[in-house]
Amino acid sequence: MLKGKKIILGITGSIAAYKAAYLTRALIKKGAEVQIVITPAGKEFITPVTLSALTGKPVVSEFFSANDGTWHSHVDLGLWADLLLIAPATASTIGKMANGIADNMLITTYLSAKAPVFIAPAMDLDMFAHPSTQHNLELLRSYGNHIIEPATGELASHLEGKGRMEEPDRIVERIEAFFASRQSLRGRKIVITAGPTYEKIDPVRFIGNYSSGKMGFSLARVCAERGADVVLIAGPVTLPTPHASIKRIDVESADEMYRAAMEAYPTADAAICCAAVADYAPAEYRSTKMKRNADDLTLVLRPNKDIAAELGKIKRAGQCLAGFALETDHEAENAVAKMQRKNFDFIVLNSLRDAGAGFRGDTNKVSIWYRDGRSADYPVKSKLEVASDIVDALTACLGGE
Ligand code: C5P
Repeated sequence: MLKGKKIILGITGSIAAYKAAYLTRALIKKGAEVQIVITPAGKEFITPVTLSALTGKPVVSEFFSANDGTWHSHVDLGLWADLLLIAPATASTIGKMANGIADNMLITTYLSAKAPVFIAPAMDLDMFAHPSTQHNLELLRSYGNHIIEPATGELASHLEGKGRMEEPDRIVERIEAFFASRQSLRGRKIVITAGPTYEKIDPVRFIGNYSSGKMGFSLARVCAERGADVVLIAGPVTLPTPHASIKRIDVESADEMYRAAMEAYPTADAAICCAAVADYAPAEYRSTKMKRNADDLTLVLRPNKDIAAELGKIKRAGQCLAGFALETDHEAENAVAKMQRKNFDFIVLNSLRDAGAGFRGDTNKVSIWYRDGRSADYPVKSKLEVASDIVDALTACLGGE
């Protein structure tokens, strides 16, 4: 269940920190990739050496590395994670998280994180029962965080009561159950085209475009995380495959992409055409390098197959098809006409006017237009978050939630 999941485990200054080593091991055994972020007080209870030996990664604690002064980016860390788990969480850390007191690496990471957050409190019974702790936990719940209630039993103080951190195995079960509940595309096969295409002129030259593939790769990641069998048909990009379960087919030209898509789509539940496919290819490929001379050069270009439109023609009842539009004028009108022409169920319109939208960058700003005339506008978001909105639309198209 946790295969390929990136989990930040935040450890704070509680005696229950000794259980964090077991918890780390249990998460890794289930296939998770774990990054430890520990507070200065946490290090008094468990040594970073134990933890880094288990994760195979340096433990992050300070804003700057003591060795070489490198700055540890809490923003990058926060964005990297699929889930942030704070176990054990002391009353102090809970109070700081509830009130945004960002005086250590863990709290800044928490404030930067976009991923779901799980908090496993650990403290003495009276501290746990104190109205301020309860109020802070209530605040954290209201922010959408998940609290893993502590268990009742003998505490480190030898008192009996509620406050001991939930057992690591139970915590792992909770996290597995959480990810399982988000498997809304389990059993679905989704084809995604991504990146540019290169149309060869001669052995060293091609016609291409600036598409980075980031949007399509983000879509592939989100679909895979939600349990889909993803076939990612990728044009020439330098991106790593974003999820272990993805079947990636690397292609170069529009024609190769067309053939791969036409083969994959008939057995799929849906396809998202995200690739920036070249509209034309040189009519003739020269097998030797073209020589420079003083004359003007005319290249004859022939139109490529419109992959999306061809998939639209073979779309069966119950299958979904979505595509993108990048328009410079009459944006909405052109996008809606394109959706109808290509038989899409919905179309994602990339805004060209807004900062933070379009090719190459890490953010995008889109609106989604549907066949029934509905549309939804979204603010500038990371490509991963945009992908999540698009996959929500796809899931609804497939009859899910
Ligand atoms: O017609 P236009 O290129 O603007 O359409 C964009 C949409 O069509 C995108 O979803 C793109 O992936 C898809 N497309 C395609 N094959 C082409 C051209 C565009 O799949 N040859």
